[in-house]
Amino acid sequence: MKVIILCAGYATRMYPLTLVKSKNLLQIEGIPMIDHIIEKLKKLPNIDKIFVITNNKFFDDFQIWGKDKDKIVILNDGSNSDKERLGAIGDIKFVIERTEDDEFLIIAGDNLFEFDLNDFINYGRKKGITIGVKRVEDINLIRKYSQVILDQKGKIIYFEEKPENPKSKDAAICVYYFPKGVLKKYLEEYLNQGKNPDMAGLFIQYLHKIVDVYGFVFQDKWFDIGDINQFHNANFYLLNKKLEEKFGKGENPYFFIAPGRVNIIGEHTDYNGGFVMPFAIDLYIYLAVRKNNKNVANFMSLQFKDNIISVELKDIKKTNTWADYPLGVLSVLKEMGYDFGGADFLFESNIPIGGGLSSSGAIEVITLTSLNDIFNLNIEKEKIPFLCQKAENQFVGARCGIMDQFIITMAKKENAILLNCSNNEFNYIPINLGDYYFLISSTNVSHSIASGEYNKRRAECEHGLKILKNFLNIKTLSDLTIEQFEKYKDKLPELIRKRVLHVINENQRTKMASECLIKGDIEELGKLLNESHISLRDLYEVSCKEVEIMREETLKIKGVLGTRITGGGFGGCLITLINKDSIEKFIKQVGKNYKEKTGITPGFHICQAVDGCLSFSNLQ
Ligand code: GLA
Repeated sequence: MKVIILCAGYATRMYPLTLVKSKNLLQIEGIPMIDHIIEKLKKLPNIDKIFVITNNKFFDDFQIWGKDKDKIVILNDGSNSDKERLGAIGDIKFVIERTEDDEFLIIAGDNLFEFDLNDFINYGRKKGITIGVKRVEDINLIRKYSQVILDQKGKIIYFEEKPENPKSKDAAICVYYFPKGVLKKYLEEYLNQGKNPDMAGLFIQYLHKIVDVYGFVFQDKWFDIGDINQFHNANFYLLNKKLEEKFGKGENPYFFIAPGRVNIIGEHTDYNGGFVMPFAIDLYIYLAVRKNNKNVANFMSLQFKDNIISVELKDIKKTNTWADYPLGVLSVLKEMGYDFGGADFLFESNIPIGGGLSSSGAIEVITLTSLNDIFNLNIEKEKIPFLCQKAENQFVGARCGIMDQFIITMAKKENAILLNCSNNEFNYIPINLGDYYFLISSTNVSHSIASGEYNKRRAECEHGLKILKNFLNIKTLSDLTIEQFEKYKDKLPELIRKRVLHVINENQRTKMASECLIKGDIEELGKLLNESHISLRDLYEVSCKEVEIMREETLKIKGVLGTRITGGGFGGCLITLINKDSIEKFIKQVGKNYKEKTGITPGFHICQAVDGCLSFSNLQ
């Protein structure tokens, strides 16, 4: 038997997330979506080949994914965009023209399911052409799928692709079995009549009228990952199952989601009482958590694949592991007299660790938000960032500012926040970039000096402030005007002078950048990003070799208006303001050249501004 997995679509409903990454390679439960299908296929005997049909845009990514995998043949349908797509039927034809006839099992690459395919194949072998059928409780969902009606013997007597007025709750799913000798014939007949090559369901709608087609009703869970909410649903479903597997049966769990963040501009200004302008991005930490009634907190992360870390609530100590971030939150809450019991925490995340996108802020905020909700601690939302910051400062020992925890808690979809860190007043600023996007390029390096150097920068700023306070009535470095700086700069040691100058200018730039964003002056915004980078490189000295290589390559691309290092520094990510038409070239060229020059494979992400941390039931 041969298997065809359809992965050549462009997933436009999930743009911009899927503009640079195939939907089928997005991670669910720590592995690419398609690997969940491969795991199911491993249980089937007699598979000869697994054809994964993709497009030219993501062909290289699939080749990397499929390297050294057994039986996998990756085919490129040659299309480069949604407009050029061959369509699901066109892609099936593409595959069968390149292989000898056989029985075929066809699966859409965005199906995630629990059922065993053996029963399905055995049924098909007995009956003939067979498709998967699933009862869907929400009738509205049927309108997005194909609907089927089966007779007593399981034969399809009615089939309608995307029905306006569904007649039953049975949906057809794109898992098809074709016995040897039939697929090519019917497919050619269908396409020769000039029928739509796009939606697989349309072929079945045609087919069941000319030949017997059967439906096999699957009982187990199935997801069709068509949009981001389905993606989250699937993640939480699997996380819930894992929670029970790892911690045993227990109370009902609660689910939370927290985003990562990127800072547009305003770097190393937060702990100097200045302005920052970050937004929350569509990379997430997922949490399944439940009370365990034991006065013990248990932590596990699928990202680290290590054992459970258990801590007695009456004796919270540092573990020198990732769990110190959530533990720090527990410790701060205890210290402040909040009363809560034991809980089991299972985290999953697609925010790269140490990647400058604040996976640490996200895990702190999600931990506090969840404890607040499940133990009714009544902590006001506005206080959450400050408690999390305290956890990181006191318990973990990183003297971070407030930016990360603030945006991860308070973020609003489609908006950035302009936060004044001297009084914590803030405004939402809609991100309207027209034809431009914010793109994140990850250098995939995080230097071990980072946290030490970060604390050092803070100390240098404090040193500068202390000296200047002898001459001026200022509370923070952000109160300083450029004229005052010029007048007293000679009082500062040279290194400190550079740090202070960065803070003053970066603060001005951030205010100007917020006006650019409001007015839609994207070009000027780009210039400010570039100036910010140069200052971070030369005055604040938080760049590194890999960041500079990435930046140099970035600036070679037409359509880039500005680019800079984002976050704490010493590796991590760059944020780039780029025209949408240049993105593909960017990823190919910058990706290739960066790899050649550093030996490191970079990562890219087109950012969407999303809401801050939420309980999953509140998710829109
Ligand atoms: C890290 C810190 C933030 C901020 C940035 C630099 O992300 O957590 O508080 O200081 O670095 O702007």
